[in-house]
Amino acid sequence: MAVNLEIKLGPLELAHPIINASGTFDVLAADKALEEDLFVSFPFAAYIPKTVTLQPRAGNPPPRLQETAAGLLNSIGLANHGIEAFITEDLHRLESLPVPVIASIAGEETEDYGRCAAMLDSREEVAAIELNVSCPNVELDGRALGLDPEKTRQATVLARQATSKFLIVKLTPNVTDIIEVAAAAVDGGADCVSLINTVHGMALDRYSLKPVLGHVTGGLSGPAIKPVALRAVFLVSRELDVPVIGMGGVTTAQDALEFMAAGATAVAVGTASFRDPLAAAMAPELGRLINEHGIGSASELIGVAH
Ligand SMILES: Cc1cc2nc3c(=O)[nH]c(=O)nc-3n(C[C@H](O)[C@H](O)[C@H](O)COP(=O)(O)O)c2cc1C
Repeated sequence: MAVNLEIKLGPLELAHPIINASGTFDVLAADKALEEDLFVSFPFAAYIPKTVTLQPRAGNPPPRLQETAAGLLNSIGLANHGIEAFITEDLHRLESLPVPVIASIAGEETEDYGRCAAMLDSREEVAAIELNVSCPNVELDGRALGLDPEKTRQATVLARQATSKFLIVKLTPNVTDIIEVAAAAVDGGADCVSLINTVHGMALDRYSLKPVLGHVTGGLSGPAIKPVALRAVFLVSRELDVPVIGMGGVTTAQDALEFMAAGATAVAVGTASFRDPLAAAMAPELGRLINEHGIGSASELIGVAH
């Protein structure tokens, strides 16, 4: 029995549920390294480039990456060349991808979310916009905006006023009550929520016993955070009436199956792509697993764990 893997994410009709997690797969760089291999069977049903901000950001001091027992710590600090360069240099190249492009934006001030969304609103290459609310916020003394439900709501309202595009808000798990923040995003006009960004963490150098990362602390990703992510997806999708994009440690088709059963409509692969750039090519295996469970389509799998 052939399983129908197509899913609808608002107005986006995706060939299957597997997409990439922002900041973990640079398709423009991978294009050079993998050449045709990447495009013969592009692994993602939609592509999300790295988050861009209103002004370019240099990011945090090195070292910025440290592998841990079951995951990766990063403190990139949203290094990016700014939304203007994204629009003039990257967008036309991304347009040639065989899948819809979801732009990811962040702001150091709440107002930046509206400004960035307005700059993308008229761009036909952009199918949807994801708000990354994990950027350090100047109004919150450098804490991530997404730690504060009211600020999350305000940023979403400003973006909502600036664009009619499908609006996704990507939440940080580093809060006591993720349902409260998700509800604030939806109240502000989010069409979808994305869960989860990285989990606060740090590592010490075994010899010097000093922090390894130049920024001292960072964000943990990879298999270690899968249970944290699965819980967030389960709770939020059960509570709120918007589609959820699930991510956090997805490495195999079995992981993707579980995220969808927990309530995700689409599933993003992040850290796994660093180990194997084609790790995300898991849609056929996901189809096989869905079939094995006697479920007829990917959309029927969504939330069966509830
Ligand atoms: C090196 C690195 C860079 C990241 N950059 C971004 C980013 O620019 N924007 C964003 O929303 N998330 C960013 N993330 C978070 C991922 O998109 C994802 O939410 C997180 O890593 C959990 O998924 P994973 O365990 O599959 O990696 C980054 C993660 C890593 C490891």
